[in-house]
Amino acid sequence: MMKKVTLSLFACVAILLSAAADEGMWLPSLIGSRIKDMRRKGFRLTAEDIYSVNKASMKDAVVLFGGGCTGEFVSAEGLLLTNHHCGYGSIQSLSSVERDYLTHGFWAQSRAGELPVPGLSVRILVRMEDVTERVAAGEKPAEIAKAASEEGHAADVQPMYYGNQYFLFVYDVFRDVRLVGAPPSSVGKFGGDTDNWVWPRHTGDFSVFRVYAGEDNRPADYSKANRPYRPKRHFPISVKGVDEGDFTMIYGFPGNTQEYVTSDAVEYVAEVSDPMKIELRTQRLDIISAAQAEDPAVRIQYASKHASIANAWKKWQGEVLGLRRLGTADKKRAYEKRFAAWAASKPEYAGLLDSIRTAYDAAKPEYYVYELYTESVGAIEAVRFASQLTARRSRMKEGEDFASAAREMRESFMKDYSPKIDRAIARKMLGEFLDRMPADRVPAELTAAVAECGGASEYVDRLYDNTTLTAESFDPAKIDDDPMVRFVAMFSPLRKRIAESAYRNLSNIPSVERWYRPFVRAMMEWDRDRAFFPDANLTLRVAYGSVAGYEYADGEYHRPVSTLEGVMEKDNPEIYDYDVPQRLRDIHAAKDYGRWGCEIAGRVSVPVCFLATNHTSGGNSGSPVINGRGELVGINFDRTWRSTMSDMEFDPSICRNISVDIRYVLFTIDKVGGASYLLDEMDLRR
Ligand code: ARG
Ligand code: GLU
Repeated sequence: MMKKVTLSLFACVAILLSAAADEGMWLPSLIGSRIKDMRRKGFRLTAEDIYSVNKASMKDAVVLFGGGCTGEFVSAEGLLLTNHHCGYGSIQSLSSVERDYLTHGFWAQSRAGELPVPGLSVRILVRMEDVTERVAAGEKPAEIAKAASEEGHAADVQPMYYGNQYFLFVYDVFRDVRLVGAPPSSVGKFGGDTDNWVWPRHTGDFSVFRVYAGEDNRPADYSKANRPYRPKRHFPISVKGVDEGDFTMIYGFPGNTQEYVTSDAVEYVAEVSDPMKIELRTQRLDIISAAQAEDPAVRIQYASKHASIANAWKKWQGEVLGLRRLGTADKKRAYEKRFAAWAASKPEYAGLLDSIRTAYDAAKPEYYVYELYTESVGAIEAVRFASQLTARRSRMKEGEDFASAAREMRESFMKDYSPKIDRAIARKMLGEFLDRMPADRVPAELTAAVAECGGASEYVDRLYDNTTLTAESFDPAKIDDDPMVRFVAMFSPLRKRIAESAYRNLSNIPSVERWYRPFVRAMMEWDRDRAFFPDANLTLRVAYGSVAGYEYADGEYHRPVSTLEGVMEKDNPEIYDYDVPQRLRDIHAAKDYGRWGCEIAGRVSVPVCFLATNHTSGGNSGSPVINGRGELVGINFDRTWRSTMSDMEFDPSICRNISVDIRYVLFTIDKVGGASYLLDEMDLRR
């Protein structure tokens, strides 16, 4: 019965989709419902070109890169583009002080010089399938996925609209991925954390990889004998560039949005969760930055860690600002009032908002404990290492040797670890945890131990003075006696509850989510003019919009394109983030732009970045930006920080994604990297 209602309702929704703004992240297999609107806005191809099960389509050229970025094929021989910040961990792991690819960049110069990245994999979507009816008929999502993965693929089933729909996603997982090229960080991370989430932007945020496959073109473990993967589809590249107003489409893997949550959830994010996380991260960043300023080795060692802590830290600040500025919680409250008036006469929906609120009241304190632990004690590196060790041991199989596994883990952990930094962080974080945690949730054993030592800092010092996990005397057989492991063990009841509550966000906790299923269904029935798309959940999506500037405040208009002139205006050898490579300075001084120079805003220069109205989120980094003819015009890498509330409310007047212009990518490969041979295998179109 319910199933029938759901299905026919979804059919209606598809037809009723109104010409909303550029909000939305659409499922590729259902893009047919948007294609009219897309074509009206400048898309020239068909739904089948975007996604097809029967023939090669754009989806075959898009990959999930590593655990949480997007990448795209740009040649018939498996050449892959993504962001520099997505390749960052790989580039760093292949670097050392002597061969510092982060600082100087890397260009393989030949296939033989391409560097395998252990542990890096990419996923290509083979197909997706609506399995709502199978789940409704009683099949378990995990079983459906398991059956699909037995054909040599990876598969998983993901709920959409809080479980009103279920989709099966079947992937090929390629495990031999090699680094082909990366610009120096002074291009790839130009502007660093200072410019991160900011427009105007001048970052050449790209890196180049190649996917390798076995003899049969199928996924294979790394082997010297593997050959470049021949993708079913790769993107042609437009070297004509973009203009304001041009259609753009983003094809990628956004990770997490919460567009349909109630005012209570918005308030939790804007007033409780984000502020707490921002404060704790400020303290961690201050400690790491100070240590980096003192020692160049530490600068490299902690570069990736610093960048990733700072990234979400800044995003949350924008999110809080945006939600408050838009009055999202108030707007939602008003919306809920109107909904409640409509639902009052419908027995199956009338009590829903009350049920959601009651569920939140119960879930919020638990979720707060989870977030606080994760951002404080759980953020201590030695704590993470200790728990990885014990987790590894509990997963040991017959015949496996824990001691050697543990030694290996320790070696890779120590490579980028500073006990001094971690101790300083641990002192602060344990203090914060004890101050902020409801007293009855602090493990009693810990309270006693801290009191005995005379305070959190003293207790932490004792831990770090006595742990052997990070010492030469490390003995895998004796880890249970180690003070750090015993410290972590004190949290195991808490961690167990946390493991149970570690959902994508507050509203995905089952006790809450169960009410969202009917609530979203009811909203669809009631709010006929709203274009509903499923929240992001790291599945493949299409977003479309156009190149556009924005006016944030009166008189403050932002032009949507930036150029090399802006790079040079920021140039400052004294400031690490703005120290332009000499090669680029020389090219600029000589105006030696080759075919990449063009006239922009009255000057001959090289285009660098551009803004568009596409609805994107974390995970969309590295996504192809595609023009109306299906050609690659850029690589998405960011939003403006004032846009980041779009994870909860998308404001078309100011929400902008930031992409690196593909011409800057090609220019950098060609002129700065001296690797023009890579262009030969690409399909460049005028
Ligand atoms: N803000 C972008 C994202 O969320 C880029 C992050 C990497 N860049 C940086 N400077 N930390 O991933
Ligand atoms: N840089 C983000 C990422 O890594 C994309 C920016 C955003 O959140 O939109 O996916």
